Amino acid sequence: FESGTLTGKTVFITAGPTREALDPVRYISNHSSGKMGYALAQAAAEAGAKVKLISGPVTLPPPARIETITVESAQEMLEASLQGLAHCDIFIAAAAVADYRPTAVSEHKIKKGSEEIMELHLVKNPDIVATVASMENKPFTVGFAAETRDVLKYAKDKLTRKNLDMIIANDVSRNDIGFNSDENAVTVVTHSGAETLPQTSKRKLATQLIDHIANQYTPLAR
Ligand code: PMT
Repeated sequence: FESGTLTGKTVFITAGPTREALDPVRYISNHSSGKMGYALAQAAAEAGAKVKLISGPVTLPPPARIETITVESAQEMLEASLQGLAHCDIFIAAAAVADYRPTAVSEHKIKKGSEEIMELHLVKNPDIVATVASMENKPFTVGFAAETRDVLKYAKDKLTRKNLDMIIANDVSRNDIGFNSDENAVTVVTHSGAETLPQTSKRKLATQLIDHIANQYTPLAR
């Protein structure tokens, strides 16, 4: 890659959904396609960064010349995120991680019983981006906030609560942007302000987001 704004920097990006197994044939997941995270990986590489893409199960081909690690569950995504984190300058959490997983994974396929109602017991997953942001010498840490209402309010809450440097607020109540669509529109929120980036392709938006991240990060770079 030609020298760019992120030359010499290492960027970790999580992308896609996680799958939380119930039994050998069933899981809990969501509609994330990985498009946003993969576009960010591409844009960061184009800006000169060394990129590690940590991806949940998606149908996208692994991007050329980018180290891609595929995982299934939130716990696996956390492990892959912590591996080599000491070398990571910027961490971007675009994945839609399942907040909860079944308390136990059944060894055998769960049989249909006579009961009309079945209860599932779930336990909280580790919060990957918050774990990264709690580290000593943490990388510049960027989260996404996928919200269906009060988007900016909840995004600001997450920025503070998860100790992030930036959060990208994503209104996922609309069908034409957010989960699984080719386009997105977001608001970039930092501790000093907010800027809205209008609807465009995830590819173009990713380039704009990487510019924003590089601009915020560079003055802090050690
Ligand atoms: O994949 P696409 O189809 O292209 O869709 C893109 C997207 C809508 C999934 C993406 O733009 C997006 O908004 N990703 C974040 C989705 C999400 O789960 O947001 P959240 O508000 O629940 O989580 C807040 C932040 O914490 C996110 O950065 C998330 O990655 C992170 N998180 C959440 C839970 C958890 N256990 N670990 C985490 O790291």
